[in-house]
Amino acid sequence: MKTTKFLPMLAFAAVACAQRGGGPPLTSLKAVPVPAVPGLEQYVRDEAALVVLGKALFWDMQAGSDGKTACASCHFHAGADHRVQNQLAPPHASTAGITPNRTLTAADFPFHRPGTLDAPREVAGSAGTFQRSFFDVVTGAAEVDGADLQVTSRNTPSVINAVFNVRNFWDGRASNIFNGVTPSGDADTTASVLAWRDGHLLTERVRLENSSLASQAVGPVLNEIEMSYTGRNFAKVAEKLLTLRPLGRQAVSAEDSVLGAYADASGIGLAAEYSYRQLIEAAFEPAYWAAPEGNQMTANFSLFWGLAIQAYEATLISNDSRLDQFLEGNTQALTTLEQQGMREFLGGASQCTQCHQGTEFTAASFSNTRRPGFNPANPRDAGFFRTAVTPIEDDPGFGNGAFKSPGLRNVEFTGPYFHDGGQATLEQVMDFYARNGDFRAGGNLGPGIGQIRLNPQDRTAIVAFMKALTDDRVRHQRAPFDHPSLCIPTGHEEAAEGVLAADTTDGRFASSAIDRWALIPAVGKDGDVAPLQTFDELLRGIGNDGSRAHNLTQACAP
Ligand code: HEC
Ligand code: HEC
Repeated sequence: MKTTKFLPMLAFAAVACAQRGGGPPLTSLKAVPVPAVPGLEQYVRDEAALVVLGKALFWDMQAGSDGKTACASCHFHAGADHRVQNQLAPPHASTAGITPNRTLTAADFPFHRPGTLDAPREVAGSAGTFQRSFFDVVTGAAEVDGADLQVTSRNTPSVINAVFNVRNFWDGRASNIFNGVTPSGDADTTASVLAWRDGHLLTERVRLENSSLASQAVGPVLNEIEMSYTGRNFAKVAEKLLTLRPLGRQAVSAEDSVLGAYADASGIGLAAEYSYRQLIEAAFEPAYWAAPEGNQMTANFSLFWGLAIQAYEATLISNDSRLDQFLEGNTQALTTLEQQGMREFLGGASQCTQCHQGTEFTAASFSNTRRPGFNPANPRDAGFFRTAVTPIEDDPGFGNGAFKSPGLRNVEFTGPYFHDGGQATLEQVMDFYARNGDFRAGGNLGPGIGQIRLNPQDRTAIVAFMKALTDDRVRHQRAPFDHPSLCIPTGHEEAAEGVLAADTTDGRFASSAIDRWALIPAVGKDGDVAPLQTFDELLRGIGNDGSRAHNLTQACAP
């Protein structure tokens, strides 16, 4: 018994030695502490209440300026987005191949194939921004102005485990330092909040470390962060949300792991006694909202928004995958093929751990910064690499075409892959690596690109291993991954094939198209028996019979 118990650990230790890139050892993610935010207690008096506020804000469709877009609208599916309609954004002025309602099909992937690299280059981003109602369509024509197409120019990464990233976004622009107002940390020297001290309303600077998620969260609400409209936009968000019932048009399960106790008996929204004002008062120190003058709560809304959403996202940790169980000593948790894939992944020929290191599976993690000789000024040390997914001129990313190495947990569900969403399946990702990238011109290739040696069996084993990185709580939307209902846009109504119907309900936006909406049903802490649908299954219509969750076949009226 003893020998069988210890054998895999020994085998594992042997492969761990071969791990490239000098990353931290592979352990269960349960052994990795969530980075604390020093000084948070100056602002927050109840961290549990902070998570309640954060979860409500993250899922509330009323937060968007169109009243229909939540953070969750693009982060509803294993923390990411797997929609196929209206997901293409052109990187250039050219809109070749982009038509309204363009629905991706399996045949569109991968975007780039050897020999076809001069084909139109597109990005599978996320449809539906806060300006969605300004989606400009030339009424009666199939053409749409590419510049006005409200699709993000990059594919949506998962918010699950993002708390372990030192910096967030594909290009790392969400600062690790939260200044209380904008995403740019110390670089923004004007950001400040209002504090009520000894009968005076004082201007105060905020500087919180380990808060990239708070810096990130204040980004999407402000459409043009470069244009100092910051405070004004946030005040508007505040004025609106403070008068609305949280999640007022969405179903909230009485069994929701966080919001259940606050849910209204009608099943819709939070109960009347839990307004955003009350949730903020419960979570934050009165010095930041109790001033009898100066509209302090509205003025400080970005602080509440950032810290609350960060606290909620910090609970989204998937540390119970079968790999974690294996590393905790359950030798049955991984199949022989998955264990072989693990050895290939960690071994030298695949090069994977040059960039997907440690148990977070990314060099952009806090754990990686603790290794000897770590230099934060070196993009590669910080986890940013160029793997030749797109030409540098299409998207320079962090600089010279480098992008944040994504963590690979739950990667089974986060397709399409890469910053351009150009690969539909993990097999396609492996083919990409086996051919050592697509657009190598311009150099700056990350370590190992050019030396990856993978035969078809190795690729199959590595794909099997990556699928063992799924936490079943994510697969079945169990706590902490349970959530309120959500309506998400999935394309537009058509008057005739290829012709968008004009929305005539609001004269100000006579040329807007009518959104089509799909329901993401609310689930409580026990989740859904049906597993999430993968992107590839969505493309192929697998699971539309209800055997997969989030198959986007149920209509929804926002
Ligand atoms: C319209 C779709 C959309 C909405 C709405 C949206 N996001 Fe995102 N999110 C994205 C995309 C696309 C990226 C990647 C952008 C980039 O890297 O340049 C992203 C990146 C992120 C990341 C970084 C993850 C990482 O690994 O780098 C986090 C965290 C995140 N979003 C949280 C939020 C929060 C919080 C909100 C609401 C305040 C929000 N998102 C609203 C699409 C969206
Ligand atoms: C040189 C560093 C580097 C190496 C080596 C590397 N990766 Fe990556 N990986 C990245 C970066 C950077 C990205 C994001 C690239 C982009 O979107 O432009 C990425 C993306 C991915 C993705 C897509 C994840 C998502 O959510 O979109 C998968 C899957 C992946 N890598 C698996 C692997 C495997 C398996 C190996 C080994 C065969 C490997 N990587 C080798 C740096 C690397």
